[in-house]
Amino acid sequence: MKKIVLIPGDGIGVEITESVKTILKKAEAPIEWIEKTAGLTAYQKTGNPLPEDTIQAIEKHRVALKGPLTTPVGTGFRSVNVGLRQQFRLYSNIRPAITLPNIDSPFKGVDMVIFRENTQGLYIGKEQWVNEEQKDHAESIAVVTEEASRKIITAAFEYARNQNRKKVTLVHKANILKFTTGLFLEVGRKVATDYEEIEFEDLIVDNMAMQMVMRPKRFDVVVTTNLFGDILSDLASGLVGGLGVTGAANIGDNAAMFEAVHGSAPDIAGQNKANPLALLFSSLMMLEHIGEKQTAETIRRAIYQTLVERKVYCTPDIGGEGTTSTFTQAICDNI
Ligand code: NAI
Ligand code: MG
Repeated sequence: MKKIVLIPGDGIGVEITESVKTILKKAEAPIEWIEKTAGLTAYQKTGNPLPEDTIQAIEKHRVALKGPLTTPVGTGFRSVNVGLRQQFRLYSNIRPAITLPNIDSPFKGVDMVIFRENTQGLYIGKEQWVNEEQKDHAESIAVVTEEASRKIITAAFEYARNQNRKKVTLVHKANILKFTTGLFLEVGRKVATDYEEIEFEDLIVDNMAMQMVMRPKRFDVVVTTNLFGDILSDLASGLVGGLGVTGAANIGDNAAMFEAVHGSAPDIAGQNKANPLALLFSSLMMLEHIGEKQTAETIRRAIYQTLVERKVYCTPDIGGEGTTSTFTQAICDNI
């Protein structure tokens, strides 16, 4: 039994983690869940949105599955998601976007995995007023280092090699941001020489956005800086049915955290309407990470079969007439 920290989270988090637990149990995944709290639920209970106890559990067991966390606007605690990524240096944010059977989308045959640098770029929070009194002139600093760039780009190439993927596309804006994303591109060109069997190309981010919509099939593994990766990975989710059906992983050298990228959906919380697929796909990435490839494959097949044969049991957001419970049961029946 592998011990994994489970953070159900807020809002629909509780419903979708129950669903994932049920499905993984049905598939006999050898997992013992260590349940911990974070987010609003933890804040209300303990006054701390990221309890020490939760951090220690992740430090000890090194793998966590996390539901969405509410970040209340105005109450002052900073995003726990960002906090966790920084605390455990989860530099690699990995988001696959794969066309699913029977899910409505004008885009067909999409199968790409986006690697987003998770700790630097424009998202380090170094902002300042140039003019403190008037507050009519602000500045933001972006940080790119050779070391962090090499780590994320190498992670993307290693993934391509291990998964038998053919191409890595590096996305940048080196024509304008010559130092920061120029450095990222330069490191990419160097790393690529160690992976001769994998095709390497680079694209400027605005062109990339158009290409993803016009010819999404041409992309395989994509690697980019923090801000571009944030935007493009949501775009990629949009090509295959939205944030409700795409999973994500945050991986560092010493810990890994798997999470749904959607939020806590307060508008449907507690109504048995939440789609568990995003967190479920994240849990399949987690199973693969701990070496349970076969179990992940079994569950993936059961999901696909459910989408094809028993769509009415699925949740309304993907055109079903069912609930979280009927969807979960249908997947279990197909395992
Ligand atoms: P949201 O993703 O929670 O909801 C946006 C829309 O998508 C809503 O209509 C919701 O009902 C729907 N939706 C989301 N997940 C769904 C699912 N699994 N099944 C069916 N429908 C689903 O985004 P919103 O409303 O902007 O944020 C709500 C809260 O979540 C905020 O406090 C925000 O800070 C937090 N949040 C947390 C994230 C995380 O923990 N990774 C990511 C994004 C937001
Ligand atoms: Mg985002």
